[in-house]
Amino acid sequence: VERTLSIVKPDAVGKNVIGKILSRFEDAGLTIVAAKMLRLSEAVAGGFYAEHKERPFYGDLCSFMSSGPVLKLELSGDGAILKWRALIGPTNSEKARDEAPDSVRAKFGTDGQRNAAHGSDAVESAERELGLMFK
Ligand code: RTP
Ligand code: MG
Repeated sequence: VERTLSIVKPDAVGKNVIGKILSRFEDAGLTIVAAKMLRLSEAVAGGFYAEHKERPFYGDLCSFMSSGPVLKLELSGDGAILKWRALIGPTNSEKARDEAPDSVRAKFGTDGQRNAAHGSDAVESAERELGLMFK
């Protein structure tokens, strides 16, 4: 059984749609193994997204991810990583509304940065991110 990390980002928490997002992975047969609501520090957000350190949006991303509470979750299920990535949709919420109108980011995201949800993108990143968030 595969495990992945999901984060309901501050924009979605602010829109009061946590429950609607959780029902997406319940409907997909993914199980919640662990969950915690908290506000990330800018330093923790920066370490979490360290792969993007050289990108122009990195500073804004760290500010956004620490701007309010998030819900972090460990999910498990067959093919959990790709299943959850497919459910959240394209990174940019506006593109998601065109290309995948039923996706989580299309329905609940705001723009290219404030896109409602995170999902690990591979087995290695899932292990790294679960280690950071739940150990
Ligand atoms: P995530 O890691 O959060 O699941 O998102 P992702 O794989 O779809 O996208 P990624 O390339 O890893 O980008 C991480 C997050 O950075 C913000 N971003 N802003 N302004 C921009 O051009 C831009 N590009 C990316 C988004 O919050 C994105 O989810
Ligand atoms: Mg990513």
